[in-house]
Amino acid sequence: MVLILIAMQFYSPTKNISPGNHTQIFIKETNPSPNLKALFETSCYDCHSNNTVYPWYNNIAPISYWIDSHVKDRKKNLNFSVWQNYSLDKKDHLLDEIEKMVVQAEMPLTEYTYLHGNSKITDKEVVEIIAWVKQTRIIYQLGKQPK
Ligand code: HEC
Repeated sequence: MVLILIAMQFYSPTKNISPGNHTQIFIKETNPSPNLKALFETSCYDCHSNNTVYPWYNNIAPISYWIDSHVKDRKKNLNFSVWQNYSLDKKDHLLDEIEKMVVQAEMPLTEYTYLHGNSKITDKEVVEIIAWVKQTRIIYQLGKQPK
């Protein structure tokens, strides 16, 4: 077991990093308040974007594998960095899912909030997310790309 752990340190999964303003289109289209924008950065982007802010312990296998698998898994559906590639229907649907996930306190993942205490979402923030989702979905349902 110890040998396996040591061997794992020599191989590290490719990191998910994309510098710059990778969620620019998402922010522009959905126009979240500065507070919500900061919340998505702290609580969601590590798993649902092309840029993960890796904690120092990511350099320790097998934690790096665990984080890597979460990121890979997640980007399949909701990836805030490729918002421009989604159809209006998909955007509308994802906003609905985002609302459900935060209302049911399923996101961010509980294990993640243990490691990132500041990623927890307060009730007040949930209310703010619901209002933001409602407002943004109307725009997508009208079939308009917000400017
Ligand atoms: C630690 C990684 C992690 C963080 C942080 C995280 N998620 Fe997720 N998210 C996941 C995983 C894993 C799933 C798949 C869950 C499942 O299938 O049971 C998921 C699923 C979802 C889904 C369902 C659609 C999909 O992509 O499958 C939505 C919507 C979602 N998350 C939104 C959010 C939002 C909003 C935040 C921030 C408030 C967030 N997530 C934070 C890992 C994460």
